[in-house]
Amino acid sequence: MPSIAIVGAQWGDEGKGKVVDLLAEQATVVARFQGGNNAGHTIVRGGETFKFHLIPSGILSPTTTCVIGNGVVVDPAVLTAEIDGLRARGVDIDNLRLSANAHLIMPYHLMLDQVGEAKLGKLEIGTTRRGIGPCYADKAARLGIRVQDLLDEKILKKKIMAALEPKRLMLRPFERDPALDLQTITEQYLTYGHRLEQHIADTAALLHRALDDGELVIFEGAQAALLDIDHGTYPFVTSSNPVAGAACVGTGVGPRDITEVWGVAKAYATRVGAGPFPTELDDELGEEIRRRGGEFGTTTGRPRRTGWIDVIALRYAARINGMTSLAITKLDVLGGVGTLRVCTGYRTGDGAELDAFPYHQTVLHHVEPVYADLPGWEEDISDCREVDELPENALAFLRFVEQRVGVPIALIGVGPSRDQVVWLGERSPLLASAA
Ligand code: IMP
Repeated sequence: MPSIAIVGAQWGDEGKGKVVDLLAEQATVVARFQGGNNAGHTIVRGGETFKFHLIPSGILSPTTTCVIGNGVVVDPAVLTAEIDGLRARGVDIDNLRLSANAHLIMPYHLMLDQVGEAKLGKLEIGTTRRGIGPCYADKAARLGIRVQDLLDEKILKKKIMAALEPKRLMLRPFERDPALDLQTITEQYLTYGHRLEQHIADTAALLHRALDDGELVIFEGAQAALLDIDHGTYPFVTSSNPVAGAACVGTGVGPRDITEVWGVAKAYATRVGAGPFPTELDDELGEEIRRRGGEFGTTTGRPRRTGWIDVIALRYAARINGMTSLAITKLDVLGGVGTLRVCTGYRTGDGAELDAFPYHQTVLHHVEPVYADLPGWEEDISDCREVDELPENALAFLRFVEQRVGVPIALIGVGPSRDQVVWLGERSPLLASAA
């Protein structure tokens, strides 16, 4: 059995949750490896809509163990609320396992995120304000509080005290906030500890057993390649590595344990928060795509910036992830839009045309996209389930993207519901037919 890493190939919100949900039924374990509740996955199942921020998307499959790996930053307030919400809807969460080594988002991380963005003013990153960056910063500074600390009152208090001390200056606006009182935080987090104890486990060992037994394991990425702290559009990125390689570090497995990497991309592109977005449509059509695609953040409700699909950026994402398959989602949204554009190059200020993602941010900020125009289609494709039911122009569009990115398309999303997909099998017939 292969193990599959499922990662975002653009700027997030590509519909990774749906792809994970589809594959999770056959999987023994689904493991998240980075990010926190800055992520938001929406899954529509049997007419019901589920939104997850921390719990892996596989939770709806009763036979799947869901792991929150050591690389995830966990806000226990959010996790316990998510557990309660799912229980209230009759979802069994006994299969949830939380790494003892995962770091915890603390009340001061939320405040620091807020203060940090306010200080940046016009230069703000547009974070989700969920405390993600400050939590990862404390992890690197070795001032982090880990899940296992919840089980030891003395250690917990000592560590919180040490972590709070260096932040006093920045947190001055919150000086009187009871949420910053050492005793209050300690007691609150001990309560979380009691609630989460039954889920805390050696998740790396659990994954090793599943892999050794040849079970299907899915590594569920959050955010996406272009938001990667090392490979994305820094500083307009998240504070973790959403690329497939991080699935190893973030769960405790080796590179050879991952056999496939599926990159998920929308048939167009979106971005939330600030930062370069060469194919952005700052016009009526962009607004129309936002409306049709329901492009508003699952986590913050913010309207997403919209634009055309960019195969230069996708090829880059394919390379840094070692992508073996592509999943193209929301193809239905483009029906009736008219002529479709695909970005195939970047033109720089001095007239040069780039066919690769530039390493220098300043260049990326100033490039103009070079487009190939492809004819669109008018038909509603939301009921298509087989490749040959798709309009010829939709197939030509997919073939074009697939060829330019150089990764076979394995599945296509044609609507929000989990059955609204067209599977293309192990090796894409599209690529074969285009050869
Ligand atoms: P942070 O992850 O909250 O620190 O935000 C950093 C950047 O990543 C901001 O531009 C956010 O909008 C973006 N971001 C974080 N999580 C997601 C996500 O799940 N989808 C899309 N963008 C995200």
